Amino acid sequence: MTLEGEVREAADRILDADEVTVISHIDADGITSLSVLMQAITRAGVMATPVFLRQLEPLMMHRVPQDNSLKVFSDLGAGQQNLLEEHGLTEDEVVIVDHHVSQEVDTPYLQVNALPYGHTKFSAAGAAYLVARAIDADNRDLAKLAVIGNVGDMMAREDCGLIGPAREIAADGIEYGNVAARRDLNIFGISTRPLHISLAYSSETPVQGVTGNPQGARRLLERHGIRTRTGEGRWRVWEDLDDGERQSITSALAEQVIADGGDVEKLTAELYLFPDETPHTALRNAAEFSTLLNACGRWARPEVGAAVCADDRGVALREAEHMLTHHRATIKELMNYILKTGVEERGAVQYIHVGDRFPDTVVGIGAGMALSRLNPDKPILVMCSLPEDPSLTKVSMRATDRMVEGGVDLQAALVEAAAPFGGAGGGHAIAAGAYIPREAEEEFLGLVDGCIGRQRTRPPMP
Ligand code: C5P
Ligand code: C5P
Repeated sequence: MTLEGEVREAADRILDADEVTVISHIDADGITSLSVLMQAITRAGVMATPVFLRQLEPLMMHRVPQDNSLKVFSDLGAGQQNLLEEHGLTEDEVVIVDHHVSQEVDTPYLQVNALPYGHTKFSAAGAAYLVARAIDADNRDLAKLAVIGNVGDMMAREDCGLIGPAREIAADGIEYGNVAARRDLNIFGISTRPLHISLAYSSETPVQGVTGNPQGARRLLERHGIRTRTGEGRWRVWEDLDDGERQSITSALAEQVIADGGDVEKLTAELYLFPDETPHTALRNAAEFSTLLNACGRWARPEVGAAVCADDRGVALREAEHMLTHHRATIKELMNYILKTGVEERGAVQYIHVGDRFPDTVVGIGAGMALSRLNPDKPILVMCSLPEDPSLTKVSMRATDRMVEGGVDLQAALVEAAAPFGGAGGGHAIAAGAYIPREAEEEFLGLVDGCIGRQRTRPPMP
């Protein structure tokens, strides 16, 4: 089958169903893919019920209803098809809309998954959008949610933004009018953070005198005659600046990076903005919107994020913003903990155990952010304990595009290393996770290290 064929069949099966259950993951990509599907399905007049799962694992299967509804799994399912089989789900009652590595099983479940077609930079929300558009071409307003899912799952490349089908989806949103894309300074918080804070705390490309130095950032702004507050006394944000102001700061930062012998390549990136949202809120751009959704999921309230996606704002938005503040503080604390404590270098990986200091749902995000400030040649592996089950350890790994191009595949490494202990692992080449028995930590680490070491000695992929 082709990807188009998978999309068409999924849409037809949904349209034929009396009732659908959408079962999705709790992160930004899971929340947006569920929201895209729920909106498309209910607009088509079919009843739909949402279910969020932290992971598709044996203990969670009781949340998958045993009824006559069509079960649409989004952002999960591809890698756990054995569980669907064990749960007695037949081919007819399942559609999987996912972007994870697929697991071979006897039952030929219908899957909409662009990964086997070579699209590695494509999220589940992207796949959900293709299905929504096949249900009804008028669903193009939902492209915006797919852009958020793609950005939330780090599918945008630093050099050229979203690529392949993810780029075509962004183009749908731009044409519809609720998405705008522009090449701009690669900083976080362009809609909500005071200018100098945003400049100081976005460290993708360190700039001497500015990174980690809000006072220095303020002086830079003053030198260029850029006001940091509005007439009413509100802090200005990057989004408030006009083209000329943005250009002068970007050029000044580039000059400083070049003077320090740094690389300006990652100083700018393609940013995705939402002109239909209220200015100065976290909903105004894809990076902040996806962080807000991740916050909802990681604090176990994904349904609040889904309400925000479905324009059901009010109380939900206030609650989501509250979780976002908490989430940002926790991630900052985790990053500082990793960088201050330092990682232990093994042959092929760098490693840290954070104990029970941080929730297992955020360690992967913190690991990814810390990696840009650690050894650029080794993937990072973070372990944490699960307070609700002390016999288990959660493992999160993150790599970079360059490592993956050099042969690193974290998903394969974790699946292989977890197998001898009956652990469950999965994810992507660039980001993966696993649960293992606590007593196996040291041995597991050795296996992962050996596995990554062997991957790196393979000839690079074409
Ligand atoms: O299940 P899952 O796909 O949700 O994992 C999402 C996590 O993986 C995010 O934290 C994201 O940072 C990371 N990821 C990534 N690059 C990819 C895919 C996922 O960094 N290409
Ligand atoms: O939890 P974390 O953000 O590190 O997850 C990274 C990726 O690994 C995600 O795609 C997640 O779905 C996957 N994962 C998995 N099995 C686990 C833990 C994480 O497939 N036990």
